[in-house]
Amino acid sequence: MLDHLKTNNRAWAARKIAADARFFQRLENQQAPEYLWIGCSDSRVPANEIVGLDPGELFVHRNVANLAPPQDSNYLSVLQFAIDVLRVKHILVVGHYGCGGIAAAVDGKRRGLVDHWLHPIREVAHEQRAALDALGDPKARLDRLCELNVIRQVRNVASDIFVQEAWARGQDLSVHGWVYSLSNGLVNDLAVTTSRLEEIERLG
Ligand code: CO
Repeated sequence: MLDHLKTNNRAWAARKIAADARFFQRLENQQAPEYLWIGCSDSRVPANEIVGLDPGELFVHRNVANLAPPQDSNYLSVLQFAIDVLRVKHILVVGHYGCGGIAAAVDGKRRGLVDHWLHPIREVAHEQRAALDALGDPKARLDRLCELNVIRQVRNVASDIFVQEAWARGQDLSVHGWVYSLSNGLVNDLAVTTSRLEEIERLG
């Protein structure tokens, strides 16, 4: 079963070894990524590929609509391991335009469990309702909500106790907010990079 995937896998491993005979040996002994990626599960947003990084270079956490919920133990475990053990220097919260999770959060349809998961996005939409309504075009409104969600998640990450403790002990750590475009493959840096406690307040 799934023979085509196994064939792909063998070809990929062979290509890696052809380019660098010790590639896997090195990775086996250590992972030392400088970056933590918090992104959407969407299959069109492959974290490593987008930023041209090899295995071992990017620590990845993905979920529907790239959320960083303060009570989610999965996300928190990843965050703590990335900061305290791997000592990543950058945390990238990466949303994407055309996110189905963002659209589902505000379309008023009931889907079940995921409605609860997406609740934080409805909160952002509610808080920013005037600004969003001012954008006449529904697509522009959803795209802006993708951005606002990323900014909120950057705030969640930056205000987390693991991040605050890292800053308090002088660890070099920045939190960034990006949105990836499915239509051209480029990321849009939302310029909300936060590297110090004092910078959190300017995040919406
Ligand atoms: Co998405």
